[in-house]
Amino acid sequence: MIDQLKEIQQAFTTAAAQAQTAEQIEALRVEFLGRKAGRLNEVLRTVKTLPPEERKTVGAAANAVRLEIEEKLETFLRAAQSSGASDVPAQDLTLPGLPPRMGHVHPLTQVFDELMSIFTSMGFMVYEGPELENDFYNFEALNFPQDHPARDIQDTFFIKTPITRAEKHSFPTDRGWVMRTHTSNMQVRVMEEFQPPLRCIIPGRAFRNEATDASHEFTLYQMEGFIVDTDITIGHLFWTLRELFQQLYKKPVKIRLRPGYFPFTEPSYEVDMSCLFCEQKGCRVCKQTGWLEMGGSGMIHPNVFKAAGYQAGKYTGFAFGMGPMRLAMLKYGIPDIRLFMENDTRFLEQF
Ligand code: PHE
Repeated sequence: MIDQLKEIQQAFTTAAAQAQTAEQIEALRVEFLGRKAGRLNEVLRTVKTLPPEERKTVGAAANAVRLEIEEKLETFLRAAQSSGASDVPAQDLTLPGLPPRMGHVHPLTQVFDELMSIFTSMGFMVYEGPELENDFYNFEALNFPQDHPARDIQDTFFIKTPITRAEKHSFPTDRGWVMRTHTSNMQVRVMEEFQPPLRCIIPGRAFRNEATDASHEFTLYQMEGFIVDTDITIGHLFWTLRELFQQLYKKPVKIRLRPGYFPFTEPSYEVDMSCLFCEQKGCRVCKQTGWLEMGGSGMIHPNVFKAAGYQAGKYTGFAFGMGPMRLAMLKYGIPDIRLFMENDTRFLEQF
């Protein structure tokens, strides 16, 4: 009987050497360990007929063989599966891989980068400043008269926290804090710090307390620009704006300065650019006018120079304010301003 077990063990080792697939290994399991016709079971069935003292040794030996076969089958099966020789379909290594997800430069950032490169090539410096601003720089220094309704034109977010005594020394007034309503807050800050000749742009965020729709955001981006020197004229303003748009949109455009009103410029102009989409024939984008509104501008008001401490009558300058969100919408054909802030990857990955 012990011999018979040895034979089975031998037969298994020989057969196992041939088996490669999971299927073949399963067949081996049935042949050797199967309940009904398994070779080992045939032996075990006769163990009962043996005298008790033999039954013990033979039984133990048979069990040892069974364990050994089970273990080996298990190992073979694992090897067969990991080598790919099983009936599980192997990976097709010629298939293209999954592309890694790439980040994109936000379209607004792209427009800002382009604006900064255009302006720095014209000798402008880039300056940034605070979004939480004192009433002085946002309004008063810019010739907004006290309690003038012009302060409400811009739908200001007023901040309730009062100005501390220490802060009072830094500002000529203590009218309080606001979220800056425009990047024009930086005009006097920059003028206080630098003497003319001065060319500066200020990219940044501004805040307006108003409802959002397809063309309004309460957090908006602006880019302010201004020049202060002796003998700066409207001609300089006109040339600079047209040059800016032509470089940004990479085609010739016309510019129109329409009379407007800002307390800090005199005269003040609304800046119009010939429509990019219809050669001024009239289309949906320009609302059939042939012109697109691009921003505000004007010649810097003498009171602004005064607030900055510049000598009266010595300098002239121009200033303008653009909405880079609007510039980007026109450049890329983006229909809704809210898309910039939503961070929807389906939108962002198109740029
Ligand atoms: N600050 C103005 C606005 O937000 C734009 C502007 C800037 C107008 C500079 C004139 C000069 O509407």
